[in-house]
Amino acid sequence: GELGVVAVGFSGGQGKAGVDIGPAAMIESGLLTKLKEDLGYEVHHDDTVHSYKELTPESDPPFRGMKNPKTVSAVTRKISEQVYEHAKEGRTVLTLGGDHSIAIGTISGTAKAIRERLNRELAVIWVDAHTDINTPEGSDSGNVHGMPVSFLTGLAKEEREDVFGWLKSEHMLSLKKLVYIGLRDVDRFEKQVLRDHKVKAFSMHDIDRHGIGKVMEMALGYIGTDTPIHLSFDVDALDPMWAPSTGTPVRGGLTLREGDFIAECVHESGSMVAMDLVEVNPCLDPGVDNIGSDETVRAGCSLVRCGLGESLL
Ligand code: ARG
Ligand code: MN
Ligand code: MN
Ligand code: MN
Repeated sequence: GELGVVAVGFSGGQGKAGVDIGPAAMIESGLLTKLKEDLGYEVHHDDTVHSYKELTPESDPPFRGMKNPKTVSAVTRKISEQVYEHAKEGRTVLTLGGDHSIAIGTISGTAKAIRERLNRELAVIWVDAHTDINTPEGSDSGNVHGMPVSFLTGLAKEEREDVFGWLKSEHMLSLKKLVYIGLRDVDRFEKQVLRDHKVKAFSMHDIDRHGIGKVMEMALGYIGTDTPIHLSFDVDALDPMWAPSTGTPVRGGLTLREGDFIAECVHESGSMVAMDLVEVNPCLDPGVDNIGSDETVRAGCSLVRCGLGESLL
């Protein structure tokens, strides 16, 4: 098949340096070569890890409590166009992050292309320890990587074009087409949002109770077989034992095999149109001799390969 790749070296949706080198680390470890040579993809990539420096405004003070509002808005707007350009050609789109704020760009880009090409609404499977559904006013941190889902679903709205006002209805995702997997650190405000809107969510508790096999059956069953799926995978969904080098690690997470299995099932559904792999931060390494960051990069690459069909026999 045809694969469009966007490498996003961006960290402005949160405060820790280093998540911007995540994509380079995954690419240098041979990920794209593997996708071409072993999985047989025709890869469309501009051979660039984008840093979007030219889009950084001179001054970017907090707005409605959001940190770097104009920067994150301008960068995600550009990512949205990059992803759209691939998706409108019918390519599967892989985006390597970067912090999770970039999903404002990736999901809006695929949602628009899928509407135009197939006249369909997009579904999103969001695999994460967190729900990232804070509104600016609901957020305690002001970090936009905790808010992408609220902007994408219209829970958070802003008129100002330079602060996500560029998001139009064609970019949007329905809260009914969203499924969470792996949750274990959800803010009080976010829990209320999930209840109010009856959002489909499988927490670690649900995975313990039913097993990952049943959970994937339920998740894909909820979406149905005729809806294109965007898989947005935050590496912090994995337990820090497997992926310690990430900005907001939470213990009690998925094993690497459970993560790989989720990606395999989405691939196997035949409905996956795009995948994000985000929040790999090689600079945050609690281990010695880079062992933590090496393992995290390796885990990230494994999730991507599984999402793109590596384990098909
Ligand atoms: N809920 C917290 C916040 O709003 C943490 C979000 C973590 N998000 C992530 N993409 N790792 O800041
Ligand atoms: Mn081609
Ligand atoms: Mn997370
Ligand atoms: Mn996240």
